[in-house]
Amino acid sequence: MGVADLADYPWDAVAPLAARAAEHPGGLVDLSIGSPVDATPAVVTAALAAATDAHGYPQTVGTPLLREAIVDWYARRRGAPGLTPAQVLPTIGSKELVAMLPLLLGLGPGDVVVHPRAAYPTYEVGARLVGATPLASEDPSEWPERTRLVWINSPGNPDGRVWSAPQLRVAVERARELGAVLAGDECYAELGWDAPWDASPIPSVLDPAVAGPRLSGVLSVYSLSKQSNLAGYRAAFVAGDQDVIARLLTARKHLGLMVPAPVQQAMIAALGDDRHVEVQRERYRARRDALRPALTNAGFRIEHSEAGLYLWATRGEDAWQSLAWLAELGILAGPGHFYGPFHSEHVRFSLTASDERVAAAARRLTEAS
Ligand SMILES: Cc1ncc(COP(=O)(O)O)c(C=O)c1O
Repeated sequence: MGVADLADYPWDAVAPLAARAAEHPGGLVDLSIGSPVDATPAVVTAALAAATDAHGYPQTVGTPLLREAIVDWYARRRGAPGLTPAQVLPTIGSKELVAMLPLLLGLGPGDVVVHPRAAYPTYEVGARLVGATPLASEDPSEWPERTRLVWINSPGNPDGRVWSAPQLRVAVERARELGAVLAGDECYAELGWDAPWDASPIPSVLDPAVAGPRLSGVLSVYSLSKQSNLAGYRAAFVAGDQDVIARLLTARKHLGLMVPAPVQQAMIAALGDDRHVEVQRERYRARRDALRPALTNAGFRIEHSEAGLYLWATRGEDAWQSLAWLAELGILAGPGHFYGPFHSEHVRFSLTASDERVAAAARRLTEAS
């Protein structure tokens, strides 16, 4: 399997339902793709605007100020103090890193890449791209000897599941036993809703309580797309084991994978300002509070979703049936089929629609129940 063998992009299959939903007299409410709808914060746009003279090539490794900003941010927001600038690396959004990590680590046929059972599809794409074998499993005791990379996604997309520090620790220990790299994809970590995650930080794989004093074999992957409304900037980073980061850096230099200089400046501003993240979090909280009871009243059972950007729900029927029913209400969501073979009766609702659109969805769901 190689690039030429990748399947059609799954979201294309939703287009007929989008067309049907758009015919609703009150207009479409699009809760399908998790693309932010709120404005990029002024503190970030100003930093970008001040950095438009970018005549030279940017550094693949990131500017010293950006690396410091990432280090400070991990200490301040993610319970991971003591990183050094040699342990962090900016990426062009996270998706490219997720897709290419098996390639950048030199994996190939015979190697196993573990990912969650309900999963962001790019973990599997990355494994297949290099001919490695993807394995959907959250149980460390099931991970085979040939495992070379383990993806943990906490809070999860699509299911909003959070891994506690002790659960992460077991996963890290097993990955180390296997000699595998464990990568925690953590981009929804600021969006904790249900207890205890409304009050305590969602653990990072780099937390000393998880990875111990040394970070051997452990990486945290983080994106500013969601928490800072920066999806269009392509602004993300990876941090952790210094040797693994050094290998990634070398490969990325050869491949020309560098974050544009103005975006690096914008990232420094975003990482230094916690206030806009709080504001955004409260927006998502309000949307979740509006949507959740409306879905429950309409017969959906919400599963997990204790954190993150989505509500993961089922009405006990095939997801395409639920989506057809929702399309009649002018609502578009994502079918569980897109997130692996185990969730054909689940639907993912993204909280990335305006307050007005979310209120319209809640109203329509309530009227239809
Ligand atoms: C779990 C997860 N990882 C990574 C990404 C990629 O984010 P980006 O490429 O915008 O940084 C997403 C985006 O939806 C995601 O849900």
